[in-house]
Amino acid sequence: MTTAEKPVLPVARTCPFAPPEEYTRMREDQALTQVSIPDGKHAWVVTRHEDARRVLNDRRFSSNRFHPGYPFLVEGGNPFRGSQARPMISMDAAEHSAARKSVLGEFTVKRVDALRPRIQEIVDGLIDDMLSIGGEVDLVDMLSLPVPSLVICELLGVPYEDHDFFQGNTRKFASRDNVEEERHAAVGRLRSYLSDLVTAKEADPGDDLLGRQIVKLRAEGTYEHEALVSLAFSLLVAGHETTANMISLGTVALLENPDQLAKIQADPGRTLPAIEELLRYFTIVDAVTARVATEDVEISGTTIRAGDGVVVLGYPANWDPDVFASPERLDLERGARHHVAFGFGPHQCLGQNLARAELQIVFDTLFRRIPTLKLAKPVDDLAFKDEAAIYGLYQLPVTW
Ligand code: HEM
Repeated sequence: MTTAEKPVLPVARTCPFAPPEEYTRMREDQALTQVSIPDGKHAWVVTRHEDARRVLNDRRFSSNRFHPGYPFLVEGGNPFRGSQARPMISMDAAEHSAARKSVLGEFTVKRVDALRPRIQEIVDGLIDDMLSIGGEVDLVDMLSLPVPSLVICELLGVPYEDHDFFQGNTRKFASRDNVEEERHAAVGRLRSYLSDLVTAKEADPGDDLLGRQIVKLRAEGTYEHEALVSLAFSLLVAGHETTANMISLGTVALLENPDQLAKIQADPGRTLPAIEELLRYFTIVDAVTARVATEDVEISGTTIRAGDGVVVLGYPANWDPDVFASPERLDLERGARHHVAFGFGPHQCLGQNLARAELQIVFDTLFRRIPTLKLAKPVDDLAFKDEAAIYGLYQLPVTW
């Protein structure tokens, strides 16, 4: 196959309720497809559910963004270059296990359950504000973004007053439209802001996640300033933008499927399974799960050579009909827990319990307190983030 004939990645979404046709075609045609990526290189693409889990759970595939073969889906590649410490998502093997283990205890089901009353309070307060304004409001601005932003700020010990700064820079960093310099500058601004914050906490570690890490790692003799800045960056960015977009998209999907919404309203026990289906259905982070082979590996009859880049596309994998019958059907009672929307294997999303709790509390509270909620615009007129690395909505006008 010549370069000209190879499919090109990434492919923008054109319909909010289905993966791009090219992804479906790739999955139907063959297990692995060779594609061209923005830096002119080639990479393998994995689109089938079983292969996706196999690659993501195989330590011979590295997450190291500094490896020359790592496949970036944006021009200019590694947004972390120039940083003095790699984030956890870019580490492998023992280094990764140690970094993850250090903070894992903050995100267990038990720890997240302890945060639920405060999350509920935050959601109720924001819905009070919505109700007091009335008329038409932008749900992104009034609920989707503030909920996970407030929660992650309180957890980390980041001042929420700075939300315009970190939300704006995260958006710039996650946009595939922005030129390389703008994305790198956004990362630089966020890191420098967090570096100052960490310096202040080093002098006076409070009882927040970053403060607790400083105390613990100093006691163990492994504390490093830059490593904590990298952790703070990962958690602040991943902790708000992802969940915010799922709140918006989930709200649209529920409003568009009133029969299924009614079942959840009647029985909140159905909300958590419904969230798994919404995560599968939208797979908002579908290309961050890229890897580079560190040795020759055979996957479904094809040998991936050492140094080759592999992009595991979660979206077509989550719409693989061999695993999810009639994947185009949003079926909130499907029981879709084995989706790969949070990835799979050693790097599977660290914040997934927190994301589930936030989504559950938001959907239960929003539709209980505003049962007449409706879109203020037709779905076709909504501003979807077609070009972003994290799919979602820029605005979501609603009324009731
Ligand atoms: C990893 C998705 C929420 C923190 C991941 C990965 C995916 C993902 C697909 C795997 C990356 C890989 O394998 O390379 C999502 C989605 C979310 C969400 C869809 C919301 C609906 C969160 C939240 C936090 C978070 C709320 C933090 C509070 C992280 C971190 C990693 C990660 C730190 C890297 C883990 C590692 O490398 O071991 N996420 N995420 N995420 N996520 Fe999430």
